[in-house]
Amino acid sequence: MKNYLVTGGAGFIGANFVKYLLKKHSDIQIVVLDDLTYAGNLGTIKDDLADPRLSFVKGNITDSAVVASIFEKQPIDLLINFAAESHVDRSIENPQLFLQTNILGTQNLLDTAKKYWTTGKDENGYPIYREGVKYLQVSTDEVYGSLGETGYFTETTPLDPRSPYSASKTGADLIVMAYSETYKLPVNITRCSNNYGPYHFPEKLIPLIINNILEGKKLPVYGDGSNVRDWLYVEDHCKAIDLVALNGRTGEVYNIGGHNEKRNIDIVRLTIATIRRLMEENPAYKKALKSPSSDDISWINDNLITFVKDRLGHDQRYAIDPAKITRELGWYPETRFEDGIVKTIRWYLENQDWVKEVTSGEYQHYYEEMYGNR
Ligand code: NAD
Ligand code: DAU
Repeated sequence: MKNYLVTGGAGFIGANFVKYLLKKHSDIQIVVLDDLTYAGNLGTIKDDLADPRLSFVKGNITDSAVVASIFEKQPIDLLINFAAESHVDRSIENPQLFLQTNILGTQNLLDTAKKYWTTGKDENGYPIYREGVKYLQVSTDEVYGSLGETGYFTETTPLDPRSPYSASKTGADLIVMAYSETYKLPVNITRCSNNYGPYHFPEKLIPLIINNILEGKKLPVYGDGSNVRDWLYVEDHCKAIDLVALNGRTGEVYNIGGHNEKRNIDIVRLTIATIRRLMEENPAYKKALKSPSSDDISWINDNLITFVKDRLGHDQRYAIDPAKITRELGWYPETRFEDGIVKTIRWYLENQDWVKEVTSGEYQHYYEEMYGNR
């Protein structure tokens, strides 16, 4: 029996991970700690909370009393930290919040875990920890910076963050490694490429494009659309984290990615074409359109695309070399992009209530500020 603390479990990847764990393992208990920021939504794990193996605590990862109270109540074995401010554009507007949550929050979790997991000291003064405990930091490929036209990020690529978001995630990674070296805390860091799939907040490229099409809005592409991201279906990321948590070598970093590089403009064009095709094949999907003026959906075409001012310091290309996790843990991505993108778009067409729930309120204000009338 394993006791998990999953922070950020009401967000995109965290919630998918909770669902994955509940499906995959029977003998587990999970506590989700989440502050339910604009990006967190309890509705995402509402049905899962009916399962007696899952419980929820609302709180901030920077709050040491809240984190300690969870360790007081149950013997946490695995702490998986997803909680973070995760959107690059927001980090450009408000960097300080990113440093608070992503760096200080991580340090607070490490400190609390260290305190509750320590059972004694060895002859050199290093803490000794309870058998089977581990802290796993969910990091990102963005800590490696930006690539040119060739090459891949490996675990030994020098850290070179370029946005406030990636700098804060790098700071977090460094403090995780500091706890590993200085206190011998059992840790792993995973660095994944761009995820896509269900429950993705519509401020991020793929769900934003889907949402804008359904609302009949323009589709903002930053710069010339040539930037490249390496897309992975979220469930494949969850599978990798589960493997690293259970079998990863202590103190190691694992890159996660599925060799699936795409230019932004191609992602946007594919999303347009796929929505139109799905609606043509199944006209019931047209109900997801916000103003379905007529049956004619010929307006869903590339003319919706608008090239807008580029993101400041926009990283050109990310590409992960996942050889280490494949070699050591036998991980490989199961979902081909061509299938995953269709699955994802279908999910959005069929789950407009979820979209409505998360885009009411703060999102409208954010969208106005960020994109104006474009
Ligand atoms: P998300 O923004 O969808 O979710 C973040 C969650 O953390 C939300 O539920 C939010 O309420 C919670 N949270 C934020 N600040 C908190 C705080 N101070 N205390 C407690 N809870 C807080 O993010 P995501 O896309 O699911 O990303 C999860 C993690 O994975 C992040 O650490 C991110 O850096 C990393 N990551 C994301 C991707 C990606 O493509 N989305 C890729 C690689 C790594
Ligand atoms: O690589 C992993 C990272 O992927 C994670 O660490 C981050 O948490 C996650 O948000 C994501 O970061 P990106 O900046 O790559 O994702 P985003 O969806 O914001 O943007 C993807 C690309 O699309 C990027 O090149 C910017 C571009 N873009 C984005 C938006 C929102 C547009 O062209 N138009 C848009 O409206």
